[in-house]
Formats: sequence, C-alpha cells, structure tokens
Amino acid sequence: MMENIAVALEEVSKHYDGGPEPVAAVSEVSLRIPAGEFVAVLGPSGSGKSTLLNLIAGLDSPTAGRILVGGRDLAYLGDNARSDLRLREIGFVFQSFNLFPTFTAEENVAWPVEFLRVRWREARRRAEAALAQVGLPPAVACRRPAQLSGGEQQRVAVARALVTEPRLLLADEPTGNLDSQTGQTILDLLRRLNVERHLTVVLVTHNALAASHAQRTVELHDGRIAREARGTITIMFSDIVGFSAMTERLGDVRVQEILHTHCAIVREQIAVYGGFEVKTQGDGFMIAFAGARRALGCAVAIQRAMAAYDEHAEAPVRLRIGLHTGEATREGYDFFGRSVIVAARIAAAARGGEILVSSLVRELTGGAKEFAFDGGRELELKGLSGLQRAFAVEWEPGRDPVRAHGVHREHADGHGPVLHPVASFPHLAAPHLAAR
Ligand SMILES: Nc1ncnc2c1ncn2[C@@H]1O[C@H](COP(=O)(O)OP(=O)(O)OP(=O)(O)O)[C@@H](O)[C@H]1O
Ligand SMILES: [Mg+2]
Repeated sequence: MMENIAVALEEVSKHYDGGPEPVAAVSEVSLRIPAGEFVAVLGPSGSGKSTLLNLIAGLDSPTAGRILVGGRDLAYLGDNARSDLRLREIGFVFQSFNLFPTFTAEENVAWPVEFLRVRWREARRRAEAALAQVGLPPAVACRRPAQLSGGEQQRVAVARALVTEPRLLLADEPTGNLDSQTGQTILDLLRRLNVERHLTVVLVTHNALAASHAQRTVELHDGRIAREARGTITIMFSDIVGFSAMTERLGDVRVQEILHTHCAIVREQIAVYGGFEVKTQGDGFMIAFAGARRALGCAVAIQRAMAAYDEHAEAPVRLRIGLHTGEATREGYDFFGRSVIVAARIAAAARGGEILVSSLVRELTGGAKEFAFDGGRELELKGLSGLQRAFAVEWEPGRDPVRAHGVHREHADGHGPVLHPVASFPHLAAPHLAAR
C-alpha cells in the first residue's frame, strides 16, 4: 500500500561552485517524511540545514537528486507552479525572517492570504488571529519590522507561515531568538497543529529540547545525514510462558488457534493505547509506546483480556510482560540500544501472568500512588552490568490498580510524565500495520 509521503528526497546534493573552493552544502541526502510527521533537523552551524530546507521549499534547485513535495517532483514544476505550491501548501519560516521592511507586522502576515484572493478585510482578520496565536499583542501588529525586537520579528515570521493553513511547515530555527517561555509557546503551537491538523513539520533547530517535540530527529554533518537520533520510549516485550510445551501437548492446529486469539487481543489493546508494534515473532511481541503510563495501561488491559479469555479456554495461556523506559535509537521501524535489551531481559524474568516493570517505569507511572506494585526484586540482567530492580504490577480485576484518569491524562497533553518522548507512534503504526 502507498504511504502518504509529504516530502521525499532521493540522493539529493547541493554544491556551490562559484567561490574559490566548491562547497558541498548537502550531499546525497535521502529522506522520507510521511504526511503528519514532526521531524527535527539538527546539526552544527554550516552543516546544511538551511540549504536542505530551501531545497525542499523549491527556493533552491539541487545539483543532483530528486525532490518530491506532496507527490510532485519539483524538477518538473515551472517557476509559477512552484510559487503556487509554496503559497498554497508550504509555510516557510526563514532563519533571517525575510519580512518586508515597509509593511507593518499585520501586513506582512496578511499578504499571502490576499495573494490567495481572499478579500483584504478577511485577510486582516486571519492575520490578527495568527498574530494572537504566536502571542503578539495588537499593539505590535501596526509596527514595521525595524520597530520590532528580534523575537517579535521571528513570531511575525511564524504567523505568516501559518496564516495560510499550509500542509507542510518548514521552519528554520523558529525559536532561536526567543526566551524559553515564548519558545515553548511556539513549539506547543506547532505540536498542536501537528496533532490536530495533521500539519507536517520540519523544524531546524540547535536546541535538543525543541527537538524533543519531534517524532523523529535527523542529524546533519557536513551536508550528510549522520544518524537518526535517539528518543525516549517505553518498550514492552510479551510472550506466552511455556508456548513450546503447549505445542507438544495440544498440537499445531489448536495452538495456532490460541496464537491467533492471543495476537488479536494484544493488537486490539495496542491500538487502544496508541502503541507501535515493532515486531512479532510467533507468540512474542515487541511494542513501543511514547509514554510509560500508556504502556502500563496497555499491559494491564492485555493481561485482563487474556484472563477473561482463559476462563473459557481448555488450556490457560499465561502471558509474561516486561516494561522499561529509556533512550533508544530508531532505525526505520526498529529500535536499538541498551534500554531495549533491558526491557527484553525484564520480560524474560517475569513469571506467567506477571507484568514486571523497571523502577523507572514504576516512577514514571506515578509509583505506588497510581498503580499497585509488589515490593520489587533485584534482577541480574544477563550480559548487562549492574542489577535492575523490577516490580510486579497487581493487575487482577477487582484490585483495580489503575486509576481511571491515568491514560487519558497522558493522551490529553501528549507527553510522557517526566522525560520527553521523541515519538508519538500512532502516525507510524498505521502504514506499518496496514502493510501486513
Ligand atoms: N550561496 C552559497 N554559496 C556558497 N556556499 C554556500 C551558500 N549558501 C550556503 N553555503 C555553504 O553551505 C554550507 C551549508 O550552509 P547552511 O546555511 O545550509 O548551513 P546551516 O546548517 O543552516 O548553518 P547555521 O546553523 O549556521 O544556520 C555552509 O558551508 C555554507 O557556507
Ligand atoms: Mg541555517
């Protein structure tokens, strides 16, 4: 099936040959940005971030390679068609703002709307609303750029990029001149538009905290993508205890049925709790969540659903689940790193019917105040140094360990409790799962 790709770069290079020495500003960059994704582009000064953004916006042409925006190959668009694409579908925040010096702030924001043949009164109204969204008071609206502070000019630039309600926002350091509070307001706005309006965001930033709003970070070094960066996620591993023995005892056909039911139950809960199915092998699942609370809620729901199924089954299916939160490196649809191994080891140490979590997960989910845990036990994690304290969650119905608001609260603000999750996986999960 076709994924909906907002931006695709295929081995794109941009070289400048005019100066005393040729500069490879961007070299062989391949990148796919699904519609609705929030991507942060990081990298040192001179690494090619602005060049990359200009190329995607069609403000600059690549020396080699192919760039598709909304499925259209920029190389085949004439100047007018490109301008039209920029005007209608792309919002661009320039690193140097690029405001018209003779226009007031409001006029700077209103003109793209007027270009779309909206009557000026309506254009003004939208400009006013956009300026308010970025936290600029009406008094600022009638001043010219020279009468505005750097941070105010930057916010005018953001308002201008958003006023046309673009599908794709390309923002070059949009918070570089802002204090942390105002910067946070802008980032929250972008995140909200990303979630609510499915706005695709490519955010160039030097700031790791700003980047933590993104689902994915791309790091440039000397014009090349250095690595897909790391993010904080909660990993869940689950499998059926004694699955091989069960196969011996019940035979392939019966076990196949049990396996199907088990997979259906697990997948249903993954969907409910917004998890991302990283991989499956037989009865084993690896699932990633943006937040620990969501992950634990899902684990409890799975155990309860399995227990309900067991009541009618001839052979009880005992599931063990392990959870751990930490930094992981994402590559494509997979995750790597120590945290992933820790999660797998914790799951392996769990007994049938148990949900075993690391102490960090226990903390992140509100600890004993929100869920009921046992006293914990020290685990020696094979192949890893140090001990890991793990706690079993008491999930049986009737004991009701989960406070009802737990999961919803996290859905509402979209953030993990203490750490900054890089990913919110529902966007990712859809094309991936549909491909099965
Ligand atoms: N028009 C140009 N002619 C020659 N070289 C250029 C031109 N524009 C950019 N470069 C060079 O290309 C490289 C990448 O520049 P770019 O502006 O993309 O970096 P950047 O990552 O945005 O840096 P910063 O964080 O400082 O904004 C730099 O070495 C820069 O000097
Ligand atoms: Mg730049």
